[in-house]
Amino acid sequence: MSETAISGYDYGTVAASPVTKEELDLLRASVLFGHEDEAALRRAGEVLGGQVEQILDVWYGFVGVNPQLLAHFSGPDGEPIAAYLDRVRGRFGQWIRDTCERPYDERWLAYQEEISLRHTPAKKNRTDKVTSSSHVPLRYLVALIYPITATVREFLMKGASGEDLEAMHEAWRKAVVLQVALWTRAYAPDLW
Ligand code: HEM
Repeated sequence: MSETAISGYDYGTVAASPVTKEELDLLRASVLFGHEDEAALRRAGEVLGGQVEQILDVWYGFVGVNPQLLAHFSGPDGEPIAAYLDRVRGRFGQWIRDTCERPYDERWLAYQEEISLRHTPAKKNRTDKVTSSSHVPLRYLVALIYPITATVREFLMKGASGEDLEAMHEAWRKAVVLQVALWTRAYAPDLW
């Protein structure tokens, strides 16, 4: 598989995604993600861009009070690994920006596959050289779509209201569902 150098945020060198542009287009259509959603995400990016740390505070707070989630940032002794939480936090912040700002092209697709792999035994723990759980259970990946979507609303409300707020929130919801759908691939490549 060819390696694709991803520029912008330091993604390092990641392999091109096995997912084709056609498969992505069909997935986008299946989640009703259209050009108006891309435009709404760009506007959402302007609203959320200055609030990334506060959003992460909310998400990390949520993970912190849910032992079944915190376990995946913890070591064999059951203690959370602060450096791991910290380093992933930076990448998570970048993901918020990327979700709103980047074109969903081949480079984006390549990094989607990388994020997917980093939740599975193929690549979890490697980037940060930690000893933690082998993978994030797929069921939690799906479940987190809800909190990750619901919690951004209050932040979108700081810069939008009415129909615009709804459009941004729906676009965010679709973008998260789309990405998690892509991330299921590494868990079940033969069934994808
Ligand atoms: C909608 C659901 C989820 C989203 C949007 C999401 C998003 C992300 C992102 C963007 C990264 C950083 C990828 C990178 O650039 O390296 C990441 C990594 C990570 N996520 Fe998730 N995640 C989700 C669900 C979960 C769940 C349920 C857990 C369980 C605690 C989890 C635990 C982790 C861990 C441990 C890492 C670091 C993986 C590594 O070792 O590189 N994630 N996630």
